[in-house]
Amino acid sequence: MKLKKKIKIGIDSPSAAGAGTISKMLAKNYNLLYCDTGKIYRYMAKQIIEKKPLDKIKFLKKISKKINLKKLNNKNLLTDDVAYIASQIAKDLRVRKLVVKFQKDLAYRPPKKFNGSILDGRDINSKIVKDADFKFYVTASVTERAKRRFKELKKLGKKVTYSKILKNLKRRDLEDRSRRYSKLKKTKDSTLINTTNLSIKGSFLKVKKIIDKKLNI
Ligand code: C5P
Repeated sequence: MKLKKKIKIGIDSPSAAGAGTISKMLAKNYNLLYCDTGKIYRYMAKQIIEKKPLDKIKFLKKISKKINLKKLNNKNLLTDDVAYIASQIAKDLRVRKLVVKFQKDLAYRPPKKFNGSILDGRDINSKIVKDADFKFYVTASVTERAKRRFKELKKLGKKVTYSKILKNLKRRDLEDRSRRYSKLKKTKDSTLINTTNLSIKGSFLKVKKIIDKKLNI
């Protein structure tokens, strides 16, 4: 499918609300470049865990220049330990600044073959792609999100318990919502999509309907 004009979609959400799955489906449907921006922070976190640098900022400055989408596509980034460190470093404005350009380049300058871009994260609609053509805030109850994350990690063969996942999600929600910079929040101009009682397909179709209507297709 070729769209009449290039589009940018921004999706913000707390962890495990289904935003990633919906974004991937939208990217496929409209032929958009997709980036799960949480993976950028997870990638940096994983590197810190492995290399244990003394000067974290100096180290991150160096590796941030070499980040690309291929490096972010790694199942090892999915663990809760990595997520926790990711949320810790993501609080630091100096760290966030290192990866703004990478995200903006993807959003505003996707390769020609795409009809545009879709980014999901915490601060996409408030900071990274403020002028996105379509803005959504995807959420679900924390217990539903914990259930989904539990299933996902089990499937990957990870040793996890539901209660620990729930606890970690609550902690990360609180930290992401109350930090000083680029807090997780719904911007006024984004559409709320609550996926608690929706299937993956149902969530996707709900968002697609809104986009199709505005695109006149
Ligand atoms: O979405 P995911 O759980 O993979 O994100 C990991 C962490 O990275 C989040 O808890 C959040 O602190 C941080 N993050 C962020 N800004 C984004 C995406 C993720 O601060 N745009």
